[in-house]
Amino acid sequence: MTSLIIIGAGPGGYQAAVHAAKHGLKVIIFEEGHVGGTCLNVGCIPTKTYVHSATFAEAIERQQQVVEQLRGGVETLLSHPAITLVRERASFVDAHTVETPSGQRFTADNIIIATGSSAKLLPIEGADAPSVLTSTELLRLTELPRRLCIIGAGVIGMEFASVFQRFGAEVTVVEYLKECLPMVDADIAKRLRKLLEKRGITFYMGAGVKAIRGTSVYFDQKGKELSVEADVILMATGRKPNVSPDFANAGFDFDPRKGVLVDNHFQTTVPGIFAIGDVNGRQMLAHAAEMQGIHVVNSLLGLPDEMDFNIMPAAIFTEPEAACVGPSEDQLKEARTPFECHKAFYRANGKALAMKETEGMVKLCSEPNRGHILSCHAFGAHAADLVQEASVLMCCRATVAQLSSMVHIHPTLGELLRMAAE
Ligand code: NAI
Repeated sequence: MTSLIIIGAGPGGYQAAVHAAKHGLKVIIFEEGHVGGTCLNVGCIPTKTYVHSATFAEAIERQQQVVEQLRGGVETLLSHPAITLVRERASFVDAHTVETPSGQRFTADNIIIATGSSAKLLPIEGADAPSVLTSTELLRLTELPRRLCIIGAGVIGMEFASVFQRFGAEVTVVEYLKECLPMVDADIAKRLRKLLEKRGITFYMGAGVKAIRGTSVYFDQKGKELSVEADVILMATGRKPNVSPDFANAGFDFDPRKGVLVDNHFQTTVPGIFAIGDVNGRQMLAHAAEMQGIHVVNSLLGLPDEMDFNIMPAAIFTEPEAACVGPSEDQLKEARTPFECHKAFYRANGKALAMKETEGMVKLCSEPNRGHILSCHAFGAHAADLVQEASVLMCCRATVAQLSSMVHIHPTLGELLRMAAE
C-alpha cells in the first residue's frame, strides 16, 4: 500500500520523498521532466555555474556537466527501495487518486503537490516575439547576445544582468518600481544597483514596459515614452504557480495566479492533500520548498519539528551578492515595530580589504536596547553566508548584545556581523 504520493520531483518533492522513505513510508513520486526541477535544471544551479565561470563559453560547457552530475545524484537518492519514480505527468481523478497519460492509476491516503512554477509573461504587445526569452530559454543560448535588455529588476533580472554584463554583453534593465530587488532593504538595493551601474549596466527605474516591437522595448518613464534596442530581451517579471485544471477533481481551493491555498502546515482545503514550494505561492525559494516538504512528512509521521517559516533567508547571486532575512527597515517602519539599526561596512574589515572586496554593507535591525535580532540585510562578497549566520542567530532568538560577545575568527568577513552588533 502506497502511503504517500508526491507530484513533482523538484527540491520540494524529491527531498520529501527521501525523508518519507527513510522514515518507513512507501512513496510514489511523479515527474514528467528531469528530476531536480527548476532549481537544478534551469535555475539556481546553472546560474551559479555561470557566476563561477570566467567566460560565456566556459559557462555553457560547465552548465551541462554540473547539472548532469547533480541530476545523477538525485536519481540515486530516488532509487531508494521504498520510492517508486514514475516518469509521467500525474493528474487528479479524485482526492486520493491520480492517473498518468498511459492510463495507470494510483491511490494513497496522502498526496503532496510539488509542481513548482513557471515564468510569467507580461500581457503586452510583442511578448511572444522571437527575441523575447524567459530565463529558461536564455540559459539555452549558445552565443552571447551583443545587447541584452532585461525587463524586471527582481531576483532573476539582477542575477542575469550581473553575469551577462561580466561576460561582455551590453545590458540594459527596465524596472517598473523605483528600486531593484523589492524584498531587500532599499538602502542596500540602491547601493548594489549603483555599483552595477558603475560597472556598465544601464538601469531605467520607475519605467513600465508597454510593448515590444521587433527588437525595440518601449516603456514609460516619468510620462515620457522611451525605447531600448536589444538583440535578446529577457522577461523577468515574476513566476506563476503551476496549477492544473485537474486539481478541481480533488476539490481543494486554488487560484491560477496565487497558487494552491494552504494552511500554516501546507495542507490544502482537503485533508490529506498538501501543496509545498512554488505552487503554493508563499515563498518561491528552493530551500523553502525543501523545508516545507520535510515539515509535511514530519506531520504525517507525528514527528514534532521546530521549523519557523517566518525566518526565511534568501540570497541574490549578483556580483557581489545580496541577501536578507527578516523584514527590511521600511517594512519595520510600516508595521510600526520599534527597532534600532546597526551597520558595518566591508571597507573597514581586514579580510574584505585583503580580498579586494571593499564594496558592501551589513545592516542588522534589532529590538531597541540591543534586544532580539529582527532582521539582517547585506550586500558584498559572501553576503549570503553572513545572512545565514544572522538567520541561525534569529532561530535561536539571540540578541544583538549576545552577538557582540560571540567570538568571531579573525580575519573573516563574519567579523562584520559582530562589528555591526557593537
Ligand atoms: P520578481 O517578482 O522578483 O521581480 C519581478 C520584477 O519585475 C519586479 O521588480 C517588478 O516590479 C518588475 N516588473 C513587473 N512588470 C513590469 C513592467 N511592465 N515593466 C518593468 N518592470 C516590471 O520576479 P523574478 O525575478 O522573475 O523571480 C521570480 C521568483 O523566483 C521570485 O519569487 C524569486 O524569489 C525566485 N527566484 C529566487 C532566486 C534566488 O533565491 N536566488 C533566483 C531566481 C528566482
